[in-house]
Amino acid sequence: MEEEGKEVYKEALEVVRKVSESLGSGELVPISRAHISGVSYVNIGDAGLEFIRDLAERGGRFRVATTLNPVAVDLEKWKEMDVPEEIVSKQKEIVELLVKMGAKPTLTCTPYLIDPPKRGEQVAWGESNAVLYANSVLGARTNREGGPLTILEAICGKAPYLGLRIDEGRKPTVEVYFEKEVWKAVENRKIPYSALGYSLGLAVGRGVPLLMETRLPFKHIKNFLAAVGASSSIGLVLIRGLSPEVKESNFYREKVEKISLSLTEVEDSIEKFRKKAEKADAVFLGCPHLSPSELREIFYFLEKKGWTPRKKVILSTSRWALNQVGGKICREKMDKVIILSDTCIVVSPIEYMNVKHVVTDSAKAAYYLSNKGLDVTLLPRKTILGDII
Ligand code: F3S
Repeated sequence: MEEEGKEVYKEALEVVRKVSESLGSGELVPISRAHISGVSYVNIGDAGLEFIRDLAERGGRFRVATTLNPVAVDLEKWKEMDVPEEIVSKQKEIVELLVKMGAKPTLTCTPYLIDPPKRGEQVAWGESNAVLYANSVLGARTNREGGPLTILEAICGKAPYLGLRIDEGRKPTVEVYFEKEVWKAVENRKIPYSALGYSLGLAVGRGVPLLMETRLPFKHIKNFLAAVGASSSIGLVLIRGLSPEVKESNFYREKVEKISLSLTEVEDSIEKFRKKAEKADAVFLGCPHLSPSELREIFYFLEKKGWTPRKKVILSTSRWALNQVGGKICREKMDKVIILSDTCIVVSPIEYMNVKHVVTDSAKAAYYLSNKGLDVTLLPRKTILGDII
């Protein structure tokens, strides 16, 4: 390790240790990999760019396998997004610096689809949907790390040993039930599964919810968990039949508070995402990034419409997933369908894309886009594919 790189390593270790102390532990645990969020220039601005540039120029290097979250633009198709070149060049510099430090430019919020960590593996992930998936579905261990902290953890290869990294922090703190009418409503496509995650997050806020009764299909888990992350600080949902810990015969439940969510409560939680769909100028699918099988399903519906949907369709996915389904060939056929890799419309400067009202199936996207001032209509994906596009 070069002398200057050593200094960055020591500084990183010092900060991570201090964070651990301030959270009441002081102990550190080695991590096997890191996933850095907060890499979009739109979100971190010049201050974030300078922070990364300083570390990279002083020889900072990642000691563990490190992947990156989506950035502000599709690095190949940025011209089609009408984003000013200044933003694009600053975004490219951020990615180049992180790659110089050793990161793999995966540029996706679904690193768990590409290379899922194993059960019990200590990782440092910064993207909330990825954290929830890693903990809840794979049984890996990570807290919801902030963007800059994840960079420092990747440099020193360690993270504070507390919270969801230890057995004690993974015990359920509340049991959550959705009333029968809620399941009926999602099954009858009145509301999307992500609405359940969003309302659960709002109702619980923090801690570790346990879902013992669930009719949540696996294909909707990613969207459900992303929504939990958007409306709360929760990083683990224990789900019967899915979470490795709950599957174990010796899974131990202490007596905890039970809460039950009614259809009215779920509907109230998404009230502001129910603008009239007819007025929308675009459909957005892909929050979190679409998997190869989701892309295939959507392509199937678009094929039926002769690739000329009634509304502009924006899909966001990883370059990895797109390559799996031969996305480059499909792109040539499309006019009103925009497939974005490396980015999503939440972390991109959407103001340049001339979109004011979006229909989506993602409560996470609904939350962030409505915070950006867009009108949003939240509907189940099947309704969107069958009736809206
Ligand atoms: Fe991913 Fe963007 Fe949603 S980063 S989780 S698609 S807000």
